[in-house]
Amino acid sequence: MSTTISVPPQLLLERILTLEIVRVTERAAVSAARLRGLGNEKAADQAAVDAMRRELNRIPIEGTVVIGEGERDEAPMLFIGEKVGINAGPQVDIAVDPLEGTTLCAKDMPGAIATMAMAEGGTLLHAPDVYMQKIAIGPGYDKHLIDIDAPPEDNIRRLAQAKGVPTSSITALVLDRARHAELISSIRKTGASVRLISDGDVAGVIHTADSDNTGVDIYIGTGGAPEGVLAASALRCIGGQMYTRLILDTHEKRNRAESMGISDPDMIYSIEDMVKGDCLFAATGVTDGSMLSGVKFRKDVIQTETVVMRSVTGTVRYIKADHRQLDKFHLD
Ligand code: FBP
Repeated sequence: MSTTISVPPQLLLERILTLEIVRVTERAAVSAARLRGLGNEKAADQAAVDAMRRELNRIPIEGTVVIGEGERDEAPMLFIGEKVGINAGPQVDIAVDPLEGTTLCAKDMPGAIATMAMAEGGTLLHAPDVYMQKIAIGPGYDKHLIDIDAPPEDNIRRLAQAKGVPTSSITALVLDRARHAELISSIRKTGASVRLISDGDVAGVIHTADSDNTGVDIYIGTGGAPEGVLAASALRCIGGQMYTRLILDTHEKRNRAESMGISDPDMIYSIEDMVKGDCLFAATGVTDGSMLSGVKFRKDVIQTETVVMRSVTGTVRYIKADHRQLDKFHLD
């Protein structure tokens, strides 16, 4: 006797697309990795963008890039509003950061990744490439335990209390920037430790969801908005809390945001505000890092490591791939 299991088409497609987006970030990572350590950030970014665009245009979606990158630093970019995919399949929103950590890649330093997220059409925050204030912790805490407007000391104390540990056991991850001097000093006054990173706050936020292994309990600070939405997509899959606010400190930025549908420039976004529907998230290591190994160019094989997540099930897969034909078919 045969049993028929009915799976909604949307779920089936998502399962297929999970592997498709792995190909996208793999190819972007390999292309960027070929330019590791050459000191040319723009060239590495462009290589990643070109590869990502090429792969996105091979997959069965009607996609729209809603989170691109580049306006802030005039980098090459997948344009916000750009249509991608073979124009058949589900309508989806796409968030991309083809090379997250351009400086890390150009200097061959740890932590550069190629990353993207895909969500049901109309469900990802459409945000300009401006700065974003962010605070994030992992799963398992009361909702609103952290407050983006509270002094950092209060957030550290609340988190320590919820974890049942002294504040000296808390580690906060912060981007090493002059604008964070006061923030860093306030966190340290509580006795908490500050782990500074030179770049790469997508992985920085994701680290809070696995504090036992990463040692990172909380992420606080200001980074890029595209990176914020990408990190929120990952937390939507694996759990955690994140609150953000766009920094719209000029008329031009406020007008740009308004044209993208943002009527309240001071709005605080939760994960569910930034990613309203089901999503997929993928990232491939470009250089070795705390989350992923970088691309390895062996004699006949190119090796990649990718993490891919799905919010419907919360499944997280680490995919190590050996690519044997990338050069032959000019696929990277
Ligand atoms: P890029 O890949 O665009 O260089 O971004 C790296 C990054 O460190 C992000 O992770 C972070 O959100 C942003 O830059 C912070 O911006 P800034 O370097 O201007 O402080």
